[in-house]
Formats: sequence, C-alpha cells, structure tokens
Amino acid sequence: MIALGSDHAGLPLKKEIIALLEEMGLAYKDYGTYTADSCDYAQFAQRAAKAVAAGECDRGILVCGTGIGISMAANKVHGIRCACCSDCYSAKMTRKHNDANMIAMGARVVGVDLGRMIAETFLTTEFEGGRHQRRIDQIMAIENGEDLG
Ligand code: RB5
Repeated sequence: MIALGSDHAGLPLKKEIIALLEEMGLAYKDYGTYTADSCDYAQFAQRAAKAVAAGECDRGILVCGTGIGISMAANKVHGIRCACCSDCYSAKMTRKHNDANMIAMGARVVGVDLGRMIAETFLTTEFEGGRHQRRIDQIMAIENGEDLG
C-alpha cells in the first residue's frame, strides 16, 4: 500500500502518480488534499507519514509546489525518512543508501514525465543494506535523542 499526500500545488502531479500506480498495479491510499483549493501541506504530510510510520502503508509519495515543505513536515514524524528529489539518480540512491520510506517532489519543479519516472524509480529500487544500515541507525539515533558525539 502506497500512501499519497499533497497540497493544492502538488495535486496535478499527484493525479499523474495515481495513474502510474494504477498502471503498476499498486494499491494506494490518498490522504488528501482532494481539491484545487489553496490549503496547507503539513496536515496531509502528517497523515500520510503516520500511515507509513505505523506500517499501514509500505512507502509514501508526497507532492507540493517545491517538495520541500511537505518533506520537512513528513520528516517530523518519528520513523520517517523522506527525501525530496528532483531527479532519478537521487530517487534511486535514496532507496539504495538511505532506505527512504517516503519521497517528496515539487510539481512546480519537475514535469509530469520526470515526476512519474522519479516515482517509479523510488518504488522499484531496493535498499542495499550493509554499511548503509549503520548510517541509517545513526540517523534514527538522533531522532531518539542520542548524542552521536
Ligand atoms: C504553496 O504555494 C507552496 O508554498 C507549497 O506547495 C510548497 O512549495 C511549500 O514548500
């Protein structure tokens, strides 16, 4: 199950990503927004991120104007590693090396075709593990208030 979230600026690209998920045969849950009315992205980021953090969804895709605000909000939820990406290389590497469980994109930054490719790359790339797990453990230790020295 893939969690989706956007604000009004991200809505057009989110609709394209929904079409991609349907083509890929992947189930999704859209946590809003559902209309083009101007809205604030944080609540939609939080809803989708909580679903991923709780294990109700495997991964999540977020879209706002830049991808930045919505990724910042998602990363405030415990257990979330959301990468804001505008290219396929970063989308691939954030899965392989960072085990990102969410990705964010800017609908005002990437075009529809690139946005779809970034989402597809994120969804089809697996975590490499190994030395990267140690680094992720360190990120999560910071989240848990540990001092890395
Ligand atoms: C909305 O105008 C815009 O600020 C928002 O979508 C996002 O880009 C914020 O980071």
